[in-house]
Amino acid sequence: MKRLTFFLSLFTFHLSLFSSPVYLNPEVPLEQRVEDALSRMTLNEKIAIIHAQSKFSSPGVARLGIPGLWCTDGPHGIRAEVKWDEWDQAGWTNDSCMAFPTLTCLAATWNTDMSLLYGRSIGEEALYRGKNVLLGPGVNIYRTPLNGRNFEYMGEDPCLSATMVVPYVLGVQQNGVATCVKHFALNNQEDGRHVVNVSLSDRALYEIYLPAFRAAVQQGHSWSIMGAYNRIWGQYACHNHRLLVDILRSEWGFDGAVISDWGGVSNTDEAIRNGLDLEFGSWTDGLTEGRSNSYDAYYLAMPYLEKILRGEVGTNELDNKVRNVLRLIFRTSMNPNKGFGALCSDEHAAAAREIADEGIVLLKNAPVGKKKSAQPVLPLTPDSKSILVVGENAIKQMTVGGGSSSLKAKYEISPLQGIRERAALNNVEVRYVRGYIGDVGGEYNGVTTGQDLSDNRTPAELTAEAVAAAREADVVLFIGGLNKAEHQDSESADRLQYGLPYGQDQLIAELAKANSHLAVIILSGNAYAMPWLDNVPALVQAWFNGSETGHALADILFGDVNPSGHLPFTIMPALEDYPAHQYGAIAYPGINNEVEYKEDLFVGYRYADLYGQKKPLRYTTQGKDYTIVPPKHKPLFAFGHGLSYTSFALSQPVQNGNTVRVTVKNTGSRPGKEVVQLYIAPVKSQVARPVKELKAFQKVALQPGEEKVLTFALTDDMFRYFDADAHQWVTDPAPCQIRIGTSSANTQIAK
Ligand code: BGC
Repeated sequence: MKRLTFFLSLFTFHLSLFSSPVYLNPEVPLEQRVEDALSRMTLNEKIAIIHAQSKFSSPGVARLGIPGLWCTDGPHGIRAEVKWDEWDQAGWTNDSCMAFPTLTCLAATWNTDMSLLYGRSIGEEALYRGKNVLLGPGVNIYRTPLNGRNFEYMGEDPCLSATMVVPYVLGVQQNGVATCVKHFALNNQEDGRHVVNVSLSDRALYEIYLPAFRAAVQQGHSWSIMGAYNRIWGQYACHNHRLLVDILRSEWGFDGAVISDWGGVSNTDEAIRNGLDLEFGSWTDGLTEGRSNSYDAYYLAMPYLEKILRGEVGTNELDNKVRNVLRLIFRTSMNPNKGFGALCSDEHAAAAREIADEGIVLLKNAPVGKKKSAQPVLPLTPDSKSILVVGENAIKQMTVGGGSSSLKAKYEISPLQGIRERAALNNVEVRYVRGYIGDVGGEYNGVTTGQDLSDNRTPAELTAEAVAAAREADVVLFIGGLNKAEHQDSESADRLQYGLPYGQDQLIAELAKANSHLAVIILSGNAYAMPWLDNVPALVQAWFNGSETGHALADILFGDVNPSGHLPFTIMPALEDYPAHQYGAIAYPGINNEVEYKEDLFVGYRYADLYGQKKPLRYTTQGKDYTIVPPKHKPLFAFGHGLSYTSFALSQPVQNGNTVRVTVKNTGSRPGKEVVQLYIAPVKSQVARPVKELKAFQKVALQPGEEKVLTFALTDDMFRYFDADAHQWVTDPAPCQIRIGTSSANTQIAK
């Protein structure tokens, strides 16, 4: 017996020697694994895992077999590999990706299935490329159409962006790849983004600017979040106590890691105390500037270690940071359930095309001429025997450029190519003329399009050629807009003007005179002036749609897919019609780096809805007076607007307790999809409230003649506003109308 006990104890001793430690056992609850790993780490190892070791990676703990993290931009595809310590290309030949449509397009689908498909697909690409953290999606609110990065975000409305961001996050993370939702928070302009100090009311903060981040954290359970570059209340967002400790951790219960924007850290003490976990990008030009190892000099590297060793700070904050980073590692790089992912698969191409198909917005499609039999220009029919395409954006590769979202796409179907392929099925030849010269460059951090777009002709010569060709064509498709060059839709700097650049307005006006069968197709992530609108019968907002740009555009133009995108932002006639541009430089772009959000809650349609009110709206929040002068003009195109080649009829919506029902019928002759939007409109509130606010939406597919009853559930939170003085969401006692419609300018009250 004694012998048996001896052998048994020897056996268990050996088992414990060979069985894996707690932190390596995926069966053990996450928090226990984190504590176990933490307890085994030395001080130096803890310091090491809270800052970068290269441009896009941070180390793990090699001694313990804990791998590090590899991050990648984001948010529209997986960025090409750069050198260890430089932005230049690493020169890989297998790092091309599928370029998905930009996030404005995704938001314009108003379809959460598209968002899930997007997240799942881009997550698979990240996984295949060995990435653990995808730097995206972006959910900063569209405050001004000059913001160079609006194309990376999901529009002007907190409900739309909050609803659309969640499936994206879930889709990415089901691959064992973390999203890093950015840029938290108030990075709503690129001009001065590294220095501006934003002040705003708590109401605007909670009601407009935070909901999408909160949804990503609380409903999507994003495993990481990226601090913004700018300051808020005088403190940098990457180490902003109120934002990261009070709101993100305490109020929202975030258990992921806070990652700095690249180079967004500037103060060791604040970075220690104010909720930052992982520092990236601080002058990571160590090699070019001659430092031997710039990573050691990071704010959360040696400077932090030295403070601990000198006894100036303790290690509680450090342990918390390490916990947050370990949790991120266990969820991603040590996730045992990861698959292999896929890169540039047929499924991803199909996903990119489907999302683009659903996001392209038909803004206008009026019949040409006054005859009763007059038909709109779109969709193109086989009768159009000669199609003329005009404009640089028909041929310009657009996945390269725009800043950190720049991609090395495996392929990019240009609009012209897509149109030519499709027209060939009708035996129609497509002629192309340039029309204008915009940006002939095509390089970002060493990724080049390889296109030579240089052309020495004068604008007069180009216009004359285009007009002459337009006179001979059955139909003219002008394809222009913005591009990814500096001061267009691009990071680091804002746009310089609201109008289209490169003389496009004049060209469009000339084309409209030359041929009444003109469709204007705009590739952009932003709104723009449309002085030619009355003379142009058809207008399509076609975003930047990545690899499948041309195929998706042809799907819409030829009617193979019925357009169903709706605008995620309001298009006003002039820059002065936007609320952020009502108050002079202090509201945008700032004076002495101070920016005050004086328009408060009245962003986008919340402002446009004040049109027609005789008196300015005056109110006080947190002791500060606000004056909102109603706009002088109506929107050209309202938030939520989008046409179709079929028609839909909505019945009188009926409210029954907490349920609202409406019947939608396809009254036209083609299958199509409609976006039905529910707004809440308080009546005679004692509190300053927007006229109405989007609270829910559904996209419904209908065959010709088919009808469906849509049911919306009303929930308490839909009726709340943020009481800044009490610092809580409260229900407005004012009665509320429930308004249902197909855009913010087209709703009817539920009875
Ligand atoms: C951008 C981030 C990006 C990071 C890494 C920064 O300049 O603001 O959005 O993820 O660079 O490329």
